[in-house]
Amino acid sequence: MTKFLIVSDIHAYVRSKDTTSVPSLVEVQPDGKPSNILREIAKLLKDEDLRPDWLVCPGDLGDRASPEALKFVWSELVWLRDAVGARYLIGAAGNHDMDSRFINNNFSPKENLRALDPPFPGVTLSDSDKYWGNDYCIYTDNACRIVNLNSSAFHGYGPIIDGKAGENEYGRISERTINRIVAEVTDRAYRTNILLTHHHLIKNDHMWMGEQSEMRGGNRLLHQLTEATQASWIVIHGHLHYPDIDYGRGSSLAPVVLSAGSAAATYDAGSSASPPNQIYLLDTESDPGQLDGWQPCGTVHGWYWSHDGLWERSPPRHRIAYGSGFGSRLNPKQAADRFESALKGSGQPYMNFDEAFAKEPLLKFLLPADLDLAIKELTRRAYKVTIAPVRSQSVLRPL
Ligand SMILES: [Fe+2]
Repeated sequence: MTKFLIVSDIHAYVRSKDTTSVPSLVEVQPDGKPSNILREIAKLLKDEDLRPDWLVCPGDLGDRASPEALKFVWSELVWLRDAVGARYLIGAAGNHDMDSRFINNNFSPKENLRALDPPFPGVTLSDSDKYWGNDYCIYTDNACRIVNLNSSAFHGYGPIIDGKAGENEYGRISERTINRIVAEVTDRAYRTNILLTHHHLIKNDHMWMGEQSEMRGGNRLLHQLTEATQASWIVIHGHLHYPDIDYGRGSSLAPVVLSAGSAAATYDAGSSASPPNQIYLLDTESDPGQLDGWQPCGTVHGWYWSHDGLWERSPPRHRIAYGSGFGSRLNPKQAADRFESALKGSGQPYMNFDEAFAKEPLLKFLLPADLDLAIKELTRRAYKVTIAPVRSQSVLRPL
């Protein structure tokens, strides 16, 4: 099982006399004082006894391309990587990380990111050179492959139309880059395939109709990755601060798409939504024997920053709750059948979801929306489901 700790869209900022809004809960202090909200993540993982393999930041480390904020957040993430025992830290260039309006740099929108030490986006200088030279790099570790794509590669370039630099408004992948990535991933199969990037690849229809910042060419990339590898990919992205986990377009191998919410941004950061600040631990399931061929399956634990100033387990009302599943594409009838058979087979009058998941592993890996549909089907069949604050502790019993 490979574990990914995801901390996205931090939007750290430096206060000045001109500051009129506060974009983030992470403010860079003149004395370099560490960020409480980021340092608390290490405490959380220690308390939960969790150790990720990868620490992943899908972009927007700082707000409005502040070089001080970029430097500060990158160093805090390096600290966090070591504190939680992760082997690797990788980032993605967000639209706020590129100085596309040349406010803090006169000649290059990416120079402040390139100046970071260790080299951004991690892991080695060679990886960094490939990322900036080719707009992507690829990491591999055991059964896992990660394509890290720079969806902000054209920010700061392109024609200015009607006084507006259009390329800054959305992500893009060029046809040349698609072809290079596809050629590179075709040579070898991996159990887990991840695509990390900043912008969403598929239009988010939950947002208002004017939202069009999705990556140009993103869907084309996904189709070609799936076709080239005959595998379902996991996409991890940030950008809209809209937490969600669902599937992309395509066949039964359509990708799993994790849209990460922001770890620290406030509404002032230009968020398109105002969900809770969240971080995630994505864990892939490694026992394909119990999955009826559905691959990849896994869970995402979501935590939110509470009013008490602590990371707490996200309840089922959050779009990515603690213990959300992905990968099992059972329809509501199939899922309800499996819940029923697990309960009947147990000989007990009631059963919590944890017990049902142990008997029928595919139930654990239902998307939150698919689990909701299964619960509705069970209700139609005269069962009562009592939802617990932690999803796996919900209880199923006959009415
Ligand atoms: Fe953002």
